[in-house]
Amino acid sequence: MRVKIVGSAAGGGFPQWNCNFRLSRAARTGMPGLRSRTQSSIAVSADGTGWVLFNASPDIRQQIAQAPELQPAADAPLRSTPIRAVVLTNADVDHVAGLLSLRERQPFAMYATAQVLATLEANSIFNVLDPAVVPRRLLAPTKEMAICGADGHPTGVIVGSFPVPGKVALYLEQRGDPAADFSSDTGDTIGVRISETGDRAAVFYVPGCARIDAALRARLAGAACLLFDGTVYTDDEMITAGVGEKTGARMGHVPMSGEAGSIAGLTDVKISRRIFIHINNTNPVLDENSAEHAAVKAAGWEIASDGMELEL
Ligand code: MLT
Ligand code: MN
Repeated sequence: MRVKIVGSAAGGGFPQWNCNFRLSRAARTGMPGLRSRTQSSIAVSADGTGWVLFNASPDIRQQIAQAPELQPAADAPLRSTPIRAVVLTNADVDHVAGLLSLRERQPFAMYATAQVLATLEANSIFNVLDPAVVPRRLLAPTKEMAICGADGHPTGVIVGSFPVPGKVALYLEQRGDPAADFSSDTGDTIGVRISETGDRAAVFYVPGCARIDAALRARLAGAACLLFDGTVYTDDEMITAGVGEKTGARMGHVPMSGEAGSIAGLTDVKISRRIFIHINNTNPVLDENSAEHAAVKAAGWEIASDGMELEL
């Protein structure tokens, strides 16, 4: 199974269009040790030909341009794509906006939870993907599913989905009703276990997660590889940076560092390879020469970058 990190940044990308914080500024000047990153997405192939995309980011056109394996093959029909299916882990803008760029009546299948399918259904702009051409399929919680193309042919990629602590997408928040905004543990945000037919090695992809709990720790035990929410290094980092008022917790993202952080929370869970993904433009680990980057590496974690490939 091949796994390609298509986009390793959180919403907004790195540098973000309107961000004047030191990290985005340094990335714009091409300072060594700061790599630009596109928004949150990975691609997985069991046969090396057909690909399953996990999340469709607003940067998808650029991401396809940078990945020959996601482009039409030379001997393929005049309109074609090796992307057989798109699996969504939530309805956040950074994970669904790219669907709009996949129009042009090109068949592929879409998989998402009932909540995410309902959000797409309620936003008529997504009808640019005619369900007669792009079937929308329910990703049933906790069951393992064989991901198939629009024509029903299996891709060889198997996905098990599970709810993780999270929250509804920002644009779905009922402002002023925090209880409603955080009521979500049931499918607004999911993690996925990705494997291939007949193989037990699995990669877990969890780009958004609000806290590390016992259920998550049990689920991740024995993973060959974990791609995990690396949005913020510290909970109050956006406030400290002066770019916003929200904590990581308010955005539904557990920080990397600290007692309640992901590094500490997963340290004794048996995971062969652990990689942070969905990294926000305020996260100091983006600077490869920073103390925080060194600390994360010393704790046994890698930091994803665009184009990175894993073979399982
Ligand atoms: C998130 O990961 O918290 C969202 O992508 C934020 C957003 O919608 O910009
Ligand atoms: Mn996001």
